[in-house]
Amino acid sequence: MKSLTVVDHPLVQHKLTLMRDKGTSTAGFRRLLKEISLLLCYEVTRDLKLTTMHIETPMQEMEAPVIAGKKLVFASILRAGNGLLEGMLELVPSARVAHVGLYRDHDTLEAIEYYFKAPDDIADRMVIVVDPMLATANSAIMAIEKLKERGANNIRFLCLLAAPEGIKAFQEALPDVPIFTAAIDIKLNEKGYIVPGLGDAGDRMYGTK
Ligand code: PRP
Ligand code: URA
Repeated sequence: MKSLTVVDHPLVQHKLTLMRDKGTSTAGFRRLLKEISLLLCYEVTRDLKLTTMHIETPMQEMEAPVIAGKKLVFASILRAGNGLLEGMLELVPSARVAHVGLYRDHDTLEAIEYYFKAPDDIADRMVIVVDPMLATANSAIMAIEKLKERGANNIRFLCLLAAPEGIKAFQEALPDVPIFTAAIDIKLNEKGYIVPGLGDAGDRMYGTK
């Protein structure tokens, strides 16, 4: 059941390198995150089921392909998830949105919840959980467990960078949830940061440090 996809498209890798660079400004980081989210969204939705609808082109009638089933839910893990969410909503403007507010305790690295809001009918929809960083995976696991408690049963997780330690923990806790990432880095450092990484994604997005 475990599934791990590394999106190694050259455009993704190029933009990711610019994001990693500590010389990239807050504005540049945000713009790149939005651009990369469009490319990652394309990959994470690649196998969505299609049906057809009857339309009339200027030339003739036809049965044309459209996405089948209920609209998607994008679930953003606050704060940094919002950087991915923004671009994804541009590609799929009708998606529903869930917000899960979590922060990491700097000493214990445990995730602490401060907000949760999700669509009532989440059980009927595919849920794509977004957060740029999968480090220890404590945040992603807690967010997805909360979404499952609400009924979500068809979930994918999308990030930019994943640490091997986080992938292992995630797959042990949630073997049924596929992971999509732009890169797998070397390891976590003693403070739980991904190395080489890109630093603190939330701080770099919002200029808070
Ligand atoms: C970051 C990141 C993830 C989490 C990953 O958020 O956006 O949510 O850390 O780390 P983990 O896999 O070890 O749980 P942070 O807690 O810094 O909050 P922020 O997005 O509000 O800055
Ligand atoms: N959260 C971040 O923002 N960066 C890391 O490297 C690890 C967790």
